[in-house]
Amino acid sequence: MSKNLVLIGFMGVGKGTIARALMKETGLVGVDCDDLIESMENRKVKAIFEAEGEEYFRALEKKTAKWLEKSVKNTLISTGGGFYKVKNLHKIGKVIYLKSSFEGILERIKSSANSEKKLAKRPLLSDMNKAKALFDERDPLYKEKADIIINVENKSIDEIIKNILQEIK
Ligand code: S3P
Repeated sequence: MSKNLVLIGFMGVGKGTIARALMKETGLVGVDCDDLIESMENRKVKAIFEAEGEEYFRALEKKTAKWLEKSVKNTLISTGGGFYKVKNLHKIGKVIYLKSSFEGILERIKSSANSEKKLAKRPLLSDMNKAKALFDERDPLYKEKADIIINVENKSIDEIIKNILQEIK
């Protein structure tokens, strides 16, 4: 594989979990955009949002995107839910949209062992009505940006990984 794989999708859909499983299965090395931003800034995404606001965070995503395009190859890249907006997304790699309904995402978060932590670290999930509106706005845009769409709702991790591997071979 010469191109990176870029996982996009809404908060809580399982981008991180799927990235970890895919790394294990394929031996690929992965990076996570939010982790890169947190180490650049030496603070958590939540703290960045609280102290500097969303625009500042989006600028950090753009900076990360430029670095990824220039410097990263053969890598699995997981992204934050708003990263899909960066202009050079397709120059970074093959874009895979992990798709679920909003209800499916809420179900996944609620049934996870650390659901409170999952909600607490995501400022844009603090108001569910706003989160639903954001999902409705983004779902068609994620589809538009995707080279590959993988439906992850009600599927096991094994099935999801199998589907991804079929699509990228
Ligand atoms: C965001 C998603 C978050 C994180 C930030 C903004 C978004 O990442 O980047 O809170 O705009 O959807 P996850 O998708 O990993 O939760």
